[in-house]
Amino acid sequence: MYRHAYQNGNAAYPLGGSGTFSIQPHKFQPRSHPLKRRRQLMTRLGIVGTLFCIIVFFFFPNLRPGGTSFGLFSSPEDSQIETVRYYDLSNVQGTARGWEREERILLCAPLRDAAPHLPMFFGHLKNLTYPHNLIDLAFLVGDSKDNTITLLKELLEDLRQNPDPKMQFGEMSILEKDFGQKVNQDVESRHGFAAQAGRRKSMAQARNWLLSAALRPTHSWVYWRDVDVETAPFTILEDLMRHNKDVIVPNVWRPLPDWLGGEQPYDLNSWQESETALALADTLDEDAVIVEGYAEYATWRPHLAYLRDPYGDPDMEMEIDGVGGVSILAKAKVFRSGVHFPAFSFEKHAETEGFGKMAKRMGFSVVGLPHYTIWHLYEPSVDDIRHMEEMEQEKKKKEEEEKAKKERMDKIKDTFDTPSRQWEEDKSKLQNLAQDAKKVADEPKKQVVQPDKIVEARGEEPEAKVEK
Ligand SMILES: *[C@@H]1O[C@H](CO)[C@@H](O)[C@H](O)[C@H]1NC(C)=O
Repeated sequence: MYRHAYQNGNAAYPLGGSGTFSIQPHKFQPRSHPLKRRRQLMTRLGIVGTLFCIIVFFFFPNLRPGGTSFGLFSSPEDSQIETVRYYDLSNVQGTARGWEREERILLCAPLRDAAPHLPMFFGHLKNLTYPHNLIDLAFLVGDSKDNTITLLKELLEDLRQNPDPKMQFGEMSILEKDFGQKVNQDVESRHGFAAQAGRRKSMAQARNWLLSAALRPTHSWVYWRDVDVETAPFTILEDLMRHNKDVIVPNVWRPLPDWLGGEQPYDLNSWQESETALALADTLDEDAVIVEGYAEYATWRPHLAYLRDPYGDPDMEMEIDGVGGVSILAKAKVFRSGVHFPAFSFEKHAETEGFGKMAKRMGFSVVGLPHYTIWHLYEPSVDDIRHMEEMEQEKKKKEEEEKAKKERMDKIKDTFDTPSRQWEEDKSKLQNLAQDAKKVADEPKKQVVQPDKIVEARGEEPEAKVEK
């Protein structure tokens, strides 16, 4: 049912290959040739086509038969009709129990210098409980200086060769495009205020390119997921889907080292609109982009992140206007209707926040779950790293001091070893003496238990002491 990518000689390259399998479409238009040449050509094409099919079927077992549309490689008579595909889009609207209706999800992940996180991300993919064969994967790799692409290909290949049929995902696409992002990818530069508007606009473009290339008429849902999520429920797709909203996001926090308080709200881009923010927006230039979560814009918006109660009902919903991009489940119809990630100032917002606003503006439901939390990876900031180094040094210094102190004490003990043994002997002698004396002192006291002698006993006590 879902053989889109590698048919009809279009220019998608099979994973890991060069252009070996790509057959140019113009070679398949023999209509103007004389009959003889045509027959020759068809024979050649037949051979090439058969070879191609064998190779494709060998590498992509999930493309195997039961199908309609290998028109160009079968007989010329039905080539025309079978390349026509029919889709009823009313069947892919998205429902609350998509896994029962076999609704397909397009899982989109924009990647930039993401190699360190990819293995963890694939761990998450494998753990998803939503039927994997209903999940298509699409990655956009842009502006990366590390080996993201190479590693991604390897991991996808591993996934594809996994013998467990439950581990077979649907279509997997890697799209590559740079957007000229010059901001450094380190935590400081990425999260600095000055970099935000530009960064958000090129992120928006990346998302739009990715989605427009990967969204098929068969998709009911689109799930956006960042690679640097550390912990998330395996059932997250079903959990979000059950709410049957057009756009829905969980709460996103991150764990912190103990000395920083243990945990912290992470994604501040999911929020509800406020009067203050609207008034602020009115004062800004048309092209201005408000980025949430920075002191520079005091918007006083209720943030999804701050409303979290660890013991709250995870199903509780909150209407929101801006959404964060760490983990968004949206019905595909939202995008089909024209809602996208604005790479310009839409109502003074861009990217996912602008997406939330645009969806809302078009009448779609946009919801956040304040008590359903996933955890973003903690990446220490430059300050944190400095602080941790200081703490480490302090610890070392303390340890060294302790060690020096202990050595000093040992030395002192050594020096006074003999006298101290002497002292021990003296002490035990003294103790013996004291015990003897106590025995003597105790004897008269035994009379004390006899009531009629109480007075007497009291009288005797000082005498006993004097005797010693
Ligand atoms: C996937 O599940 C296994 C088994 O429960 C677990 O050990 C592993 O940490 C999970 N991976 C991720 C990335 O959560």
